[in-house]
Amino acid sequence: MNNQITAAITAVAGYVPEYRLSNLELEKIVDTNDEWIRTRTGIEERRILKGEGLATSDMIVPAVIDLCKKRGISPDEIDCLIVGTVTPDMVFPSTANIVCDKIGAVNAWGFDLSAACSGFLFALSTGASFIESGRYKKVVVVGADKMSSIIDYSDRNTCIIFGDGAAAVLLEPDTNGYGLRDSILKSDGSGRNFLHMKAGGSHRPASIETVTGREHFVYQEGQSVFKFAVKGMADVSAELLERNQLTGNDIAWLVPHQANLRIIDATANRIGLPKEKVMINIHKYGNTTAATIPLCLWEWETRLKKGDNVVLAAFGGGFTWGATWIKWAYDPQ
Ligand code: UT7
Repeated sequence: MNNQITAAITAVAGYVPEYRLSNLELEKIVDTNDEWIRTRTGIEERRILKGEGLATSDMIVPAVIDLCKKRGISPDEIDCLIVGTVTPDMVFPSTANIVCDKIGAVNAWGFDLSAACSGFLFALSTGASFIESGRYKKVVVVGADKMSSIIDYSDRNTCIIFGDGAAAVLLEPDTNGYGLRDSILKSDGSGRNFLHMKAGGSHRPASIETVTGREHFVYQEGQSVFKFAVKGMADVSAELLERNQLTGNDIAWLVPHQANLRIIDATANRIGLPKEKVMINIHKYGNTTAATIPLCLWEWETRLKKGDNVVLAAFGGGFTWGATWIKWAYDPQ
């Protein structure tokens, strides 16, 4: 027992929509093929949120309700809720506000955090600071994106990659060293040229011209982003391990952002982890942007043991990237 407060993850929950968009279905929409998508990305299918008026918050709500149930708390016990997303329900108010209203988190304040594929890592670190300071006792951190709302399904460069999903963790104070132990987070705004959405912000507000020019969709120069991502995610993960005197042998799990199987492999190799220690579900969900990392934690929750050293790593639009070391706080229930 020591006096230092760490932010422990005490529950995980997630939600993926039912509809599965397969590579074979994409073959009918754009000039692509299953073989190319599998070998270049590792993706087999992705989930898509179908239904008029359904938004990112509609995936977060079931996840956070389940999170509260699993931990045996009521939503009105949540102090703060942070949503990492680039597909908020609306430009304002924040999706966090909308979620709190829908679930009855009447005592919580919250906000959205925009860091693209690193959104969950940035939000996790932010939420952990609120716990470590002693200010709050229950902080919910969400990664969620309805990528299908900003994808151009006539652009084969991007439409094969992304999917929809949401997942959340609960952070609570711990005095035995469990939880978030260290984080290295980085950003470089010059990377915006390679991955962005051209219109819809104050720089280029929506107009007939922006709509007909298909400027409200994800624009990505895949090869350039790939080069930065391979180096960025591997370098930052290695830096995190080194500064904490950890080696691959000390790590139970690597939880990488699921953007491309080849980027995941490069990161695992760099820190000396065999594939059995890497959480990979890109084949089922594609790239769900801020949701990939918490979705992995949700899926692997029953295999995580108290005391496991877990490394989360991400790279994404911004550019933003980073790695976080967590000491897992509980055994499977
Ligand atoms: O999560 C946020 C950060 N994002 C990332 O980390 C994504 C990083 N980038 C990537 O994962 C990869 O660059 C992609 C998966 C997006 C693309 O893979 P690539 O190996 O870099 O392909 P490429 O863009 O260099 O294209 C290679 C070829 C081209 O044909 P030519 O010029 O060689 O004849 C493309 O036109 O593949 C072609 N191509 C496709 N073919 C079939 C591009 N997209 C497709 C497609 N189906 N969907």
